[in-house]
Amino acid sequence: MNNQDLLEISEKFGSPVYVYDAEKIISQYNRLTSAFSGVKNLRIHYAVKALSNISVLGLFQQLGAGLDTVSIQEVKLGLEAGVDPANIIYTPNGVSLEEIEAVAALGVQINIDNLSILEQFGTRNPDVPVCIRINPHVMAGGNTNISVGHIDSKFGVSIHQIPHLLRIVENTGMHINGIHMHTGSDILDIEVFLYASEILFETARNFKDLEFMDFGSGFKVPYKEGDIETNIEELGGKLTAKFKSFCKEYGRDLTLAFEPGKYLVSEAGKFVARVNVIKQTTSTVFAGVDSGFNHLIRPMFYGSRHEIHNLSNPEGKERFYSVVGYICETDTFASNRRIPEIKEGDLLAFSNAGAYCYSMASNFNSRYRPPEVLWYNGEAHLIRKRETFEDILRGQVKLDLSALKETV
Ligand SMILES: Cc1ncc(COP(=O)(O)O)c(C=O)c1O
Repeated sequence: MNNQDLLEISEKFGSPVYVYDAEKIISQYNRLTSAFSGVKNLRIHYAVKALSNISVLGLFQQLGAGLDTVSIQEVKLGLEAGVDPANIIYTPNGVSLEEIEAVAALGVQINIDNLSILEQFGTRNPDVPVCIRINPHVMAGGNTNISVGHIDSKFGVSIHQIPHLLRIVENTGMHINGIHMHTGSDILDIEVFLYASEILFETARNFKDLEFMDFGSGFKVPYKEGDIETNIEELGGKLTAKFKSFCKEYGRDLTLAFEPGKYLVSEAGKFVARVNVIKQTTSTVFAGVDSGFNHLIRPMFYGSRHEIHNLSNPEGKERFYSVVGYICETDTFASNRRIPEIKEGDLLAFSNAGAYCYSMASNFNSRYRPPEVLWYNGEAHLIRKRETFEDILRGQVKLDLSALKETV
């Protein structure tokens, strides 16, 4: 998918628009599975929260991946896409017992991350196998909002509570078939990940009937040229060796599972927006686009960097711009960024727009969410329509307030 393709897609479907390159998703998936080809039983559960369009879920199903889900709605999307419930894991946090039981009834693997719900679930459903999410208290992840394995994190059962956990398992008679961790996103240091995996192995020794170990995700992808990324091949080699020797000691070949979101879809996505206005102030040149944090919130939420290319003038002389949105809040995509000269009407492409962009989009300022397009086999396929005013009104109830005037 090149610049010209993106320009044509934006002309055809309008702006702003999200475009995902299926080839890139497939190559990331193949790269990950190749890195772990030494593992006998490998399972990749794509993290639906990153990008939840059912055509993308269907693509993963075709590739042989399962899904990692965090809500019953994500589970239902997966089923709608044709994924076998046995290939879906559900890792909720702070979710009600009722929802967890409803998901279990669909035949999905349950992953519980706190002792209170574990005890209630195990007492009421001793025959349903359960995975436990532990918190290894390892500080990994690129930003406090995405670093979830540390001591103050709300996620997972603390490794200091393993004796309590074992008492619950014994008293309820429940069956623990998996053990899980997810330390956070954007892991820079493989050694930190491997250290956390040692803690997972240590925890696993307490359970005699495990079928799988899930090492979560958090692989870092590059955001700009020369950017650091998780060396997946090195991680594959090192973790495979550790996993194999653990399985030998354990006496059984377990399944090794991962649940990446960003690694699989981030780089495949481009978000294209049109420049509405160039505003020159005394200190800055603003390029104001027909979008905002209602469509791409990551720069404001995580301080993440998205490369911005001027599709309409790729070879132009570079100038400094602050690229901002049209939202009535400060919504700065990039400050003083060097970009080929921008004119009003130009189309800008934001990179790394596959993960946590559409899935975090909203209708703030009553704006429509943009369409999604999958670039597949050299052709653009619309996989979600642009919203319309009917979508903004949907579910709203217009009260008859005409009597109010008489009472005030
Ligand atoms: C439990 C769990 N698994 C997997 C993921 C996916 O992480 P990433 O997109 O960094 O691969 C997340 C991200 O929030 C998560 O919370």
